[in-house]
Amino acid sequence: MKDAVDIHQLTVNYEKTSALWDINVSIPKGSLVGVIGPNGAGKSTLLKALLGIVKPLSGNVRFFGKPFNKISEKIAYVPQKGSIDWDFPITVFDVVLMGRFGKLRGLLKWYTKADKQAARKMLDHLEMGDLADRQISALSGGQQQRLFIARALLQEAEILLLDEPFAAVDKATEDIIIRLLKKLQEEGKTILVVHHDLNTAPHYFDQVLLLNTSLVAYGDVEETLTSRNLSLAYGKRGELFDEATRLSGEQKAGFV
Ligand SMILES: Nc1ncnc2c1ncn2[C@@H]1O[C@H](COP(=O)(O)OP(=O)(O)OP(=O)(O)O)[C@@H](O)[C@H]1O
Ligand SMILES: [Mg+2]
Repeated sequence: MKDAVDIHQLTVNYEKTSALWDINVSIPKGSLVGVIGPNGAGKSTLLKALLGIVKPLSGNVRFFGKPFNKISEKIAYVPQKGSIDWDFPITVFDVVLMGRFGKLRGLLKWYTKADKQAARKMLDHLEMGDLADRQISALSGGQQQRLFIARALLQEAEILLLDEPFAAVDKATEDIIIRLLKKLQEEGKTILVVHHDLNTAPHYFDQVLLLNTSLVAYGDVEETLTSRNLSLAYGKRGELFDEATRLSGEQKAGFV
């Protein structure tokens, strides 16, 4: 069985900035991976390179052995907040329904009743049922984030790429989303989540991909989030974080 995501010698430059340098990672099917690193580490760039949104200088990416364009409908993406034109005149319900687009078959592409029911259910699940008919421009930041997560979940993709899905949502929503992601993982989906909170990372993810332009480490949380790796990725801040975590009690489940 081919790995769900296979990143091979991936290097990305933006004009003069080196954003990613020679990344090699193979992610097995059914992984829930936290992509972690400081601001500017290349986390968003990594997701964009996986999706072909940015063109790598060298290297390639395969999903179950295939290039992105052969498997794109199996891949869902939630971009980092702030990268979307929210003035587009469309309702919440229609945006979520678009998650079913990859499922439409035949010449007469039209949403079925089942598609619409699934969209309603997903909105209710993320406690957004009441907002279904609202224009997306009239949502709060956290609601916008939830909307795109609802759409990605509805797509029933095999691989989900989420860029800081918790950035603008409250704790209750964060809990709902992480539970949904864990359920999807149990169903065999492969999920990459860019995440900023080092305190929750060990509880949320089995594997961590620690990035700072180069790959600092990839593997099980306990082996990856070590003091050495954190200071390699974050410099002094990583050491301080590690010290604070240790002082606040080594009982923090699963943490080094
Ligand atoms: N479109 C672009 N043009 C030029 N440079 C860019 C572009 N997008 C990102 N960069 C640069 O590439 C590097 C990696 O950016 P990226 O957005 O991938 O970081 P990140 O890890 O997602 O950061 P953050 O935590 O702030 O979201 C940064 O130095 C950034 O300034
Ligand atoms: Mg980013």
